[in-house]
Amino acid sequence: MTKNSMRIAVFAGDGIGPEVTEQAVRVLEALGLDGLELVEGDVGGMAYRKHGHPLPPETLETARSADAILFGAVGDFSCDHLERHLRPEQAILGLRKELGLFANLRPARVFPGLEDLTTLREEVASKIDLLIVRELNGDVYFGEKGMRTLPDGRRQGWDMMSYAEDEVRRIAHSGFTAAMGRSKKLCSVDKANVLETSQLWRDVVIEVSKEYPEVELSHMYVDNAAMQLVKNPGQFDVIVTGNLFGDILSDQASMCVGSIGLLASASLAEGTYGLYEPIHGSAPDIAGKGLANPMATILSAAMLLRHSLGLEEQAVRIENAVAGALSAGVKGGDLGGAAGTREIGDAVVERL
Ligand code: NAI
Ligand code: MG
Repeated sequence: MTKNSMRIAVFAGDGIGPEVTEQAVRVLEALGLDGLELVEGDVGGMAYRKHGHPLPPETLETARSADAILFGAVGDFSCDHLERHLRPEQAILGLRKELGLFANLRPARVFPGLEDLTTLREEVASKIDLLIVRELNGDVYFGEKGMRTLPDGRRQGWDMMSYAEDEVRRIAHSGFTAAMGRSKKLCSVDKANVLETSQLWRDVVIEVSKEYPEVELSHMYVDNAAMQLVKNPGQFDVIVTGNLFGDILSDQASMCVGSIGLLASASLAEGTYGLYEPIHGSAPDIAGKGLANPMATILSAAMLLRHSLGLEEQAVRIENAVAGALSAGVKGGDLGGAAGTREIGDAVVERL
């Protein structure tokens, strides 16, 4: 699919969000795409200060009118005193839920030349080339929750974990489809030895597997998966898992390949619509200093072109430009280098 007009909502957010997003926008503009329209919107702590809400209705409207969203980061410690529903992080949770962004894709691989910069041994890290497909709309994050005082005076908090079979089925299809496009190996991660939610998960994944006879399906308990990811990550290609397990495993997997400043993600709805963001947050410790590595956001923009706009060739151009800048030694502080945010943006734009 390529279209004549392409409307991208740009939600830069808080902290380093605007700095890294600016560079990703420069990269998109440098491609000279016909009909590309970028529309900005407010999210997070900055939206709260302007509109009294981290995800104001006009932002949702902008999101709905666009083909895809490029998202920076939200998070602002000056909002810590607010009630939970007004915190900046509610912007990203709200977008995921409101827009039905149920499949979170996080690719993790080591860029050539960075093998010795990860926290794993070089020969282990160099074998990582995997994709985590994490369910994003269900599980314990969206279940009933509460806090109460028991008759004996002890406080009790609870969060209900649940999945309906259709929720599992659609993410299973995302996992199998991703596996078909890669090396046709899918590992489903659950905790079926203990949790009913996971038993249903496993049953449904097995049902769906009948539609993908070419894919080799395996199952792994989440605690073992956490261990295997650092022991022998090269064994994985595509991993499909629920919201909570996927949250933890995808952060873990992404850090096995180097810096948080390099890792992109896509959060997809049915069809081609999606939100694209770096996996990092607003990094208040370096915000406003021009030190943030914008590559994760630039690579997220490449994922946007590929998944939402069908522009595979342009996506590859961006990815090659980033890889080229890295192998030429353009590295931010997160990789032990000295290049600033804008300098890294320049290096990528030059190589397009
Ligand atoms: P963080 O990802 O913002 O920062 C963790 C560490 O990594 C910091 O030392 C930071 O300086 C460094 N870092 C992050 N991105 C970098 C980049 N592009 N270049 C160089 N260094 C980078 O996570 P943290 O500190 O736990 O959270 C800060 C705020 O961000 C919190 O309010 C949190 O809730 C929010 N957050 C938002 C997310 C989102 O918008 N999707 C995701 C994760 C956290
Ligand atoms: Mg997380």
